Amino acid sequence: MTTDPPAVRERRLTRHADVRAVLADPRFLVPAAPAAPLGTDSGPGMAWLRGAVSRFSNGAAHARRRARVLGLLDALDPVRLRREARERTRAELAGGAPVDVMATIARRVPVGVLATRLGVPEERREEVVAAVRAMAAAYHLPAVSAAPPAGDAADAAVAVLAAALGGRDAPEPGLLAAVAGVLVQACDATAGLVGNALAAVTRMPADLALRWPVEALLAETLRWDPPVRLTRRVAAEDAMAGGVPVPAGAVLVLDLAAANRDPEVFPDPHRFDPARPRQGSGGHVRSGGGHLRIGGEHLGFGDGIRPCPGQDAALALAAGILEAAAGHRLADPELPYEPSPNLRVPARLCLHDPDTTEGHR
Ligand code: HEM
Repeated sequence: MTTDPPAVRERRLTRHADVRAVLADPRFLVPAAPAAPLGTDSGPGMAWLRGAVSRFSNGAAHARRRARVLGLLDALDPVRLRREARERTRAELAGGAPVDVMATIARRVPVGVLATRLGVPEERREEVVAAVRAMAAAYHLPAVSAAPPAGDAADAAVAVLAAALGGRDAPEPGLLAAVAGVLVQACDATAGLVGNALAAVTRMPADLALRWPVEALLAETLRWDPPVRLTRRVAAEDAMAGGVPVPAGAVLVLDLAAANRDPEVFPDPHRFDPARPRQGSGGHVRSGGGHLRIGGEHLGFGDGIRPCPGQDAALALAAGILEAAAGHRLADPELPYEPSPNLRVPARLCLHDPDTTEGHR
């Protein structure tokens, strides 16, 4: 007697063309989080937030929620984001002592700058940064998992953000979901972009690192060492992916990091090369008066139907931080990374300014 092999329920795609095709195909959906009540006594919590954000929704709900996010992000001025990130980072680095960028800058500066630009009063900024970090730690956990110990803290954090945004009245739920979604998405991914870019830059000879525009360094970091390593899609119907049939319900693991090193698209893919030519329709940052197109074909910000809408903001914030850190070097060559199945974020990255350190001797 023979039995058919079990249908493959999960498939990993690593080729650039295969990953792009799935990201552009409406038959592949994001794993959705179920809608959950806003809560009456307890207030809004993580289950409500996951069920209300753009990131975990599909179809008409996604289009509506994404439009709201785009409205918030379109109102941000990248030049101002960049300047504020640069000034706040300079203040953190002043003094000459080694600074752990991951602990004091990589999340605090981008999330703090964004939060104030999105309506959080300045005096509640640090409280909201801490709340966003707690939410981010719980955001990607499946909505149905047994409540982890972090659950209570994350639930309370949603209420902290609501209070900071609402003043005397609770904020309208759609606005709370959009702002929370933006801040949470920005938190760990931008920290990873900052950390991975600084890791690459500080390993280059100092004079070479200073020669590259920060835009080129960031674009190559997004290709070579992207902070978001993978994303998932679920087949809504029987379809083809990566040249093979996948049944409805199958989960596709889209390996963005592997696709970014596909030799069919990137010659000498394992080399960190900020001079790499970039084409296509990737992100861009406003630098001075003009627009500089960067990011071409890498998939670090996703692609297709729902690419990262925060690209311009993330690049502006990270550029400001890198500018402020220019000339700094690693104080400790050992770089531990945070444990995560889909993000690559240094756990600690200590910088010092060789000029100041010399002067102190
Ligand atoms: C200011 C910073 C950022 C903001 C505000 C932001 C915001 C968002 C939002 C709201 C989404 C969900 C879009 C949707 O489902 O329609 C998203 C998706 C995404 N973001 Fe960002 N993001 C930021 C930084 C980053 C960074 C630094 C990276 C990594 C390089 C990144 C990578 C992605 C990717 C890959 C997706 C798509 C995931 C998928 O297709 O499943 N984001 N972002």
